[in-house]
Amino acid sequence: MPVSDFELVQSWRQVLDLCNLQSGQSVTILTSIGTNAQTLRCAILAVQEKGAIANRLDLQPTNGGTSLSRDPLAYVGTTPLTGNRAAVEMLKASDLVLDLMTLLFSAEQHEILDAGGRILLVVEPPDVLVRMAPTAEDRTRVLENSARLKAAKVMKVTSAAGTDATFALGEYPILEEYGFVDKPGRWDHWPSGFLATWANEGSAEGKIVLAPGDILLPQKSYVTAPITCHLEKGYVRAIEGGFEADHLRDYMESFHDPEVFAVSHIGWGLQNRAHWSVMGFYDREASIGMDPRACAGNFLWSTGPNNEAGGDRDTACHIDIPMRDCTVMLDDEAVVRNGKLVGES
Ligand SMILES: [Fe+2]
Repeated sequence: MPVSDFELVQSWRQVLDLCNLQSGQSVTILTSIGTNAQTLRCAILAVQEKGAIANRLDLQPTNGGTSLSRDPLAYVGTTPLTGNRAAVEMLKASDLVLDLMTLLFSAEQHEILDAGGRILLVVEPPDVLVRMAPTAEDRTRVLENSARLKAAKVMKVTSAAGTDATFALGEYPILEEYGFVDKPGRWDHWPSGFLATWANEGSAEGKIVLAPGDILLPQKSYVTAPITCHLEKGYVRAIEGGFEADHLRDYMESFHDPEVFAVSHIGWGLQNRAHWSVMGFYDREASIGMDPRACAGNFLWSTGPNNEAGGDRDTACHIDIPMRDCTVMLDDEAVVRNGKLVGES
């Protein structure tokens, strides 16, 4: 249900405080056709309340005529910054960028971050933003778990449904999503609260069995019958199951690119204010599904690109798959057991 402007401004205030926004700094708010008017209105109020300068940069959408899905995270092709030097320079000159349009990863985004820019993606509905407004405790929890992930050499994931997969670690950086950008060069997403990394190139092996209740994104559907994904040398080599397996395979094959089957980021959810059940209450195009991505105790894996981790795989298709009831082991230590964070009830 709706939230008031007052509530959303309070959440923005909390986020901007955590971002350590200072009076006199310049904030550029990226918008496009799909930007939520209330989120934009309240962002401008909160930025100005801090004594900072609120700029708005409205960019044209891309990929809409190519993508089969209307989800903004579904198609990782060109971005509104591609060949758009004026926009890139404006963003590089900003102390903080609030992305209310979904600027997907690109060489231009890396250029902005490398120049010390900070980008916060904010596109979920206002009520979701208020419920999952980030806190300093979210950062603490993510960073504590990140230290464990950094030290690990192997991630092993199992489930009663039949999942048994291993991923060698260490080649790629760790994506620490805690919902705000508190240092130069940082990208984050409000709302979030999870950890991800990428398996060493060619190392993902085994099988992943999606059980009823597991979630496919951008399909934004709960799986109703098992789907078995066979992993070999870093790629999904076969997808077996019923209609939902066929639908997934058909969608991925529509990109005509073998790289769509590469295993992409892997990790687990740490956000207790995110809930598995939420997706069932929203229209598919109302949300991008951060509740299932961040839900505490999930195993979140994906297929497709690794360019956000510094790799060169920039395939356009990206599937995120949050799973319940898995056990996630780092070396010989469980961080998630049967879908629950270890050490928490
Ligand atoms: Fe993803």
